[in-house]
Amino acid sequence: RTCPSPTPGGGLVVEERQATWEDLKRQSTERLGPNAVFGEGPVGATVAIVGEAPGEQEDRAGKPFVGRAGKLLNELLEEAGIDRSEVYVTNTVKVRPTAEKDGRTKNRPPRVGEVREGVEILLPELRAVGPDVLVLLGNTPSKALIDKSFAMKKDRGVLRESILDLPAIATYHPAYLLRLQGTPSYDEAREEAIGDLKAARDAAR
Ligand code: URA
Repeated sequence: RTCPSPTPGGGLVVEERQATWEDLKRQSTERLGPNAVFGEGPVGATVAIVGEAPGEQEDRAGKPFVGRAGKLLNELLEEAGIDRSEVYVTNTVKVRPTAEKDGRTKNRPPRVGEVREGVEILLPELRAVGPDVLVLLGNTPSKALIDKSFAMKKDRGVLRESILDLPAIATYHPAYLLRLQGTPSYDEAREEAIGDLKAARDAAR
């Protein structure tokens, strides 16, 4: 099966892109250590979803979006008519960023340098997958892959050109939606996120 150009895969057959992807996954572990959580899903997926960084559950499982945010992401995808097994899911930063607080290990936002290093791995990873459209969850991947002036309030939900020369649509991070739960804003924000996922689905072949 060949990938019609112009795609980030450059028309390489899926088998070659798969081999490239496996190489990149190996390199990610060599560079970042055994706790690196690489992306998951089919090479050749038409939609690729990019989050921020692994959390505790992802660190433990070695897979992206398996914790509470991942469960909500699964619900949103289902409501948008997207089969998670058919999309590629990854993160901007591959190693869980942690901070010690009150004797406990907590998540923290990734630092600028961590995002920069993450993007160096993410770009070839996404090129190997070769999607038609990217879904960017939250500010971290949106600023890194669209523009650092990205602002969720005004820029979400519209197709924008990403630095990968691919259209990207940004939406709320599911962890943000979880924080809104129980507030009057939750239902509307959740519906907006589902609408954004549907727009991505429609933009894919
Ligand atoms: N949040 C993310 O951004 N990525 C994950 O994999 C899990 C939670």
